[in-house]
Amino acid sequence: MKNQNRRGFLKSTTLLTASVAVASAFNAIPSSANPSTAKSAKNKTRTLGSGKNTIEVNNGMGLGCMGMSWNRSFVPDRKEMITLIRKAYDMGVNLFDTAEAYGPFVNEELVGEAITPFRNKVTLCSKFGFEIKDNKLTGVFNSKPDHIKQVVDQSLKRLKTDHIDLLYQHRVDPNVPIEDVAGAVKELIASGKVRHFGLSEAGVDSIRRAHKVQPVTALQTEFSLMTREPLLDVIPVCEELGIGFVPYSPFSRAYLTGYINERTRYVPGNDNRPTLPRYKPEAVIANWPIIDVLTEFGNKRGLTAGQVSLAWLMAQKPWIVPIPGTTKLAHLQENLWASAIEFTPDELKQLTDDISKIKIVGDRYPTPQTR
Ligand SMILES: NC(=O)c1ccc[n+]([C@@H]2O[C@H](COP(=O)([O-])OP(=O)(O)OC[C@H]3O[C@@H](n4cnc5c(N)ncnc54)[C@H](OP(=O)(O)O)[C@@H]3O)[C@@H](O)[C@H]2O)c1
Repeated sequence: MKNQNRRGFLKSTTLLTASVAVASAFNAIPSSANPSTAKSAKNKTRTLGSGKNTIEVNNGMGLGCMGMSWNRSFVPDRKEMITLIRKAYDMGVNLFDTAEAYGPFVNEELVGEAITPFRNKVTLCSKFGFEIKDNKLTGVFNSKPDHIKQVVDQSLKRLKTDHIDLLYQHRVDPNVPIEDVAGAVKELIASGKVRHFGLSEAGVDSIRRAHKVQPVTALQTEFSLMTREPLLDVIPVCEELGIGFVPYSPFSRAYLTGYINERTRYVPGNDNRPTLPRYKPEAVIANWPIIDVLTEFGNKRGLTAGQVSLAWLMAQKPWIVPIPGTTKLAHLQENLWASAIEFTPDELKQLTDDISKIKIVGDRYPTPQTR
């Protein structure tokens, strides 16, 4: 609760700056197009982390950039993606998520170039943690302290900057004590190359141990209406320790928007969904009742299935900051509108109850990710 008070204080002291920045995100929204969102467009800044380790995020959500060059089938024209990132900034987005592994490398290069004109006005997030040889991921983890430092130097070059605002360990490395990882990031923070420490798919024990060495600003983990397990363990620990939570794949890799179905064909070699049990045609069909619930609910409020699923995530805690990925301006606009959606307590309960009755078929990954 102490943390909540601190967040409230921070929110009020930054209200003026935040409302000016956030207002630009809604300039293009005709109030008649989505009146339920337009009425509370202001004050939607969210805070990740606590104490000296906080990051303010406009719209309460960031932009996941991975799919602009990797793992989401069609790769759009690079210049168009640079334009999209710059338009996102004009619309108020001030947190961009990438990683060394995305491509590998090319996504960091894309994001670095795109944000150059406004580099110091945004939060740039990247990740380390894998062994990459001949421009290919080897499938081996590597969070050895020396490796982390080398990766950061290389990432900084690709990102065309002298610091990374939020540096995540992409996956916990079973061969390197988490204290050593946190210690390496602590040194990078002391040197000015990194501003904040993040973890991805870390379990309760890893979070606690890392946080003792270097306070963690954010945990990035898969969380969506189809993957609600974080509510049981890591989200309560984040609340206790004052760590922000960043849901990745908040649409369950497009499924929750209703845009993919059992006939969807993925581009071979540039999409991980065919390797994930939840995207096998039989699972896609079995899970469809969740789309029916979202569509029925959305139709009562004039919202899309994707907007309802994003708003549900944001309704869980005021320090949850999703990073939906998109390659389309129209989808970006639609997603940003979701930050202003508010549910009544009855609506939230009904939606949660209806979704909870549906048994999700298919694991999210073939192997456990959280350690
Ligand atoms: N830490 C980790 O291990 C990890 C793992 C995966 C991802 N991530 C991060 O999380 C970000 C998002 O994750 P994600 O891309 O896996 O999944 P996602 O955000 O759940 O879904 C992205 C997909 O949804 C589609 N989409 C987005 N908005 C839409 C809308 N309004 N209507 C219809 N379709 C829409 C996108 O297609 P269009 O391009 O057509 O809009 C894209 O194919 C990534 O960019 C990355 O930064 C982190």
